[in-house]
Amino acid sequence: MKIQRFSRIGFIMAAAGSAVGLGNIWKFPYMTGVYGGGAFVLVYLVTIAFIGFSVMVAEMLIGALGRSDTVSSFEKLAPPGKKWWKYAGFMGFNGIIIMTFYSVVIGWIFYYLVSIFGGLPDSTQTAKSIFNDLVANKVNLQIFFHTLSVAIVAYIVHKGIKSGIEKINLILMPSLMLILFGLLAYAFSLDGFKEALAFMFEPKWEKLNSEAFIRAVGHSFFTLSLGMGAIMTYAASLPKDTSITKTAFIVTFMDTLIALVAGLVIFSFLFQFNAQPSQGPGLVFISLPTILSNFGTLGVFFALLFFLALAFAGITSAISLVEPVVQYLIDRFGMTRTKAVIVISLVYWLVGIGAILSYSKAWGDVFSIGGKPLFDVLEYATDSILLPLGGFLIAIFVGYVLPKSEVRAHLNNPNEFKAILYKIWLFSIRYIAPIALIFMMLNLMGIIKL
Ligand code: PFF
Repeated sequence: MKIQRFSRIGFIMAAAGSAVGLGNIWKFPYMTGVYGGGAFVLVYLVTIAFIGFSVMVAEMLIGALGRSDTVSSFEKLAPPGKKWWKYAGFMGFNGIIIMTFYSVVIGWIFYYLVSIFGGLPDSTQTAKSIFNDLVANKVNLQIFFHTLSVAIVAYIVHKGIKSGIEKINLILMPSLMLILFGLLAYAFSLDGFKEALAFMFEPKWEKLNSEAFIRAVGHSFFTLSLGMGAIMTYAASLPKDTSITKTAFIVTFMDTLIALVAGLVIFSFLFQFNAQPSQGPGLVFISLPTILSNFGTLGVFFALLFFLALAFAGITSAISLVEPVVQYLIDRFGMTRTKAVIVISLVYWLVGIGAILSYSKAWGDVFSIGGKPLFDVLEYATDSILLPLGGFLIAIFVGYVLPKSEVRAHLNNPNEFKAILYKIWLFSIRYIAPIALIFMMLNLMGIIKL
């Protein structure tokens, strides 16, 4: 199976499209709010710089050298006698698990995009009941929008790398940036902007408990789309002679910038009207619409733009969550792209309905595991366990299993890292990243306490 190639800009937009997602615009701001602001942001930024970026380079390297689906790439690159590394390639399946709830959230966004036209809620109480009513009672409506999201993603992925994935990213990513920077320009003119800056960049260490720390590390993986072969699968279609390090840097930078901009926009609006930042997952679905209602018609316009940006970000990430398994089914089972897309979409569509029901009043008890809604279990398992595990395997593979000479030949040349940076990167991939990730997973399993 001949893999199509992205153009250089197409690859950057696709990889950035994968990274910039609900994680940046929905999750990062609410986590920053819940975990108290500045200190959380600082841990997140440090993790991105020292671990996230290094693993991104490693993941791109495996893709660019393997030029295949995740399983075949590991298999191809592993030295003789170590072919069992191909099982690490099954990290590609994490994307499908993520999609089970990711698609549901995209569905909520679609619902909001439609309902905004009916006006914005004028009190937190009303906004809360709209959101809670949707999640607890409107099962059919959620299934409808979840299905719409599955169908849109399936359509794009079935069109393939060039005329599906590259094309849509070249349209949606610039649009998303335009909207977010436009909103930032307006937020800048508000008094709340200064407070937002202080909230996000003045660390309050007393608020940083071990849970916040672990969540910041976990989130840095989620937000960069690392540890599940999305970046690896895209990198299999990297155009020849593209600098891996430069591209990884641009993608990491764009992702971080957009998370910070989204946070600044949301918190500026919030602080402008003295609202609390610690709302949790309901931040953009409850607090933000209520606050925006203070701006009258302009508020409706802002809300529309904001949810549009969120939808764009969600869709471009979703396609990268589905593509690794699609590529796997095409390469290993000779399926046609269309058939692979249909099979996979059906699977996560179905489990996604379980996730929807797990939040509902009527079915919540049935669709829960250990007293936790299926939705939360799926999110926790991927964000906190499977992605870090994937990241760990990538770091070990590139740091210890791939021949050092081959890694050096690819990454330590004038087009890539300068000598000193290469050494720092190698140190990070061999020691810092695996140790930090192991530590984090042991902590999550309750085996050690931070
Ligand atoms: N990076 C995406 C976000 O921040 O929303 C989520 C994601 C996409 C995670 C693709 C993992 C992935 F492979």
